[in-house]
Amino acid sequence: METACGRFARDGPASPVAFPLSMSAPVSPESRPDSLPDLPVRTLVARADHTAVTLDQTRLPFDRVELVLSHAADCAHAIASMQVRGAPLIGAVAAFGLALAVREASDDAALDAAHAMLLATRPTAVNLRWALDRVHARVASASPGQRWAIAWREACAIADEDVAINRAIGEHGAEHLRRLIAQRDAVGRPVDARTPLQLLTHCNAGRLAAVAHGTALAPIYALHRTGVPLHVWVDETRPRNQGASLTAWELADAGVPCTVVADNAGGLLMRQGRVDAVIVGCDRVARNGDVANKIGTLLKALAARDAGVPFWVACPSPTIDPASPDGEAIEIETRSARELTHITGRAADGRLQEVQLVPDGVAGFNPAFDVTPARLVDALLTEHGMVAASLAGIEAVLTASAASRASS
Ligand code: MRU
Repeated sequence: METACGRFARDGPASPVAFPLSMSAPVSPESRPDSLPDLPVRTLVARADHTAVTLDQTRLPFDRVELVLSHAADCAHAIASMQVRGAPLIGAVAAFGLALAVREASDDAALDAAHAMLLATRPTAVNLRWALDRVHARVASASPGQRWAIAWREACAIADEDVAINRAIGEHGAEHLRRLIAQRDAVGRPVDARTPLQLLTHCNAGRLAAVAHGTALAPIYALHRTGVPLHVWVDETRPRNQGASLTAWELADAGVPCTVVADNAGGLLMRQGRVDAVIVGCDRVARNGDVANKIGTLLKALAARDAGVPFWVACPSPTIDPASPDGEAIEIETRSARELTHITGRAADGRLQEVQLVPDGVAGFNPAFDVTPARLVDALLTEHGMVAASLAGIEAVLTASAASRASS
């Protein structure tokens, strides 16, 4: 098993090594998990010098800039400014942030203040609170002198578990995609190079949004590795364009055929029979199966239901919020209107440049997430398998997670 803090567990005690961050850099065979030989690298790496290293996602896809997180404030800034984003990655970075805060000051008041500071960075992705609460609970009962080492180990464990969870989502999801292929075979539309399996995704729920593998993209990577022809329609995902800039970048890097489409094109593609399934990620799933995800997800779910296209949500168990009875309880982040009124891209001279899109003086309103009601979600893809988006389905996942925690 690979670990965030060091080498494989089977090698004995962790001796910290840095994993390469380049998405396409060669990786030594020993740093690859056995079941996914092609996994390039992690998006978040814990280094021996007790820094956490990731990529600055505000610079992608044009510049690959490493971001070294040495202090709690670095982690808070990275999350709030969206240098790191995506629910699982936000959770892991917050965990390292709290650990780094404990290194700086480990008394109870400092611990609580750091927890509150990191929690305030973004409101919707529940992985943030889940990871902070977990590190906090782990260290609170220890004496201040022991806290730093415990907190760092817990952050590493959270990162490692994210890798394992997403790997399992990938394996379960690929199995269900194979069933879709069998259904296509049955109606005389076999999957081949000319008519690949057609998937549509929204925002970025790939490996950039997690410690590794991604969630919604994990089944796609898993299937692609087995040689099954597939193609991904990538919603551009206005206003920040995580689809056009991040999903397209990482799929292309992995050699997965993909095409960016305007957010508004999905309905047409589904009606034309050019989408076999929609797979998206999530930022918070309520106890009844309602799903908060990037703004625009709801419209895709409505279009998919009308066109009879399966709509699946990849849902790691830490993204379930038992404290939210339904979607109404989920806080929706409102972001700066400037994300709508302006856009940043690469100019002809190669420099990043921001330009204005909207007339001077016209207001913009920018809710960053929406809630898709459980009735529009055909299935939740979790690390424990596929379940219904319902009270019973969520209960089954929470029970399975509790059982696997108890046995580990
Ligand atoms: O605002 P972002 O970029 O953090 O939003 C990300 C999403 O909405 C993702 O779909 C979600 O976090 C799932 S990530 C595996």
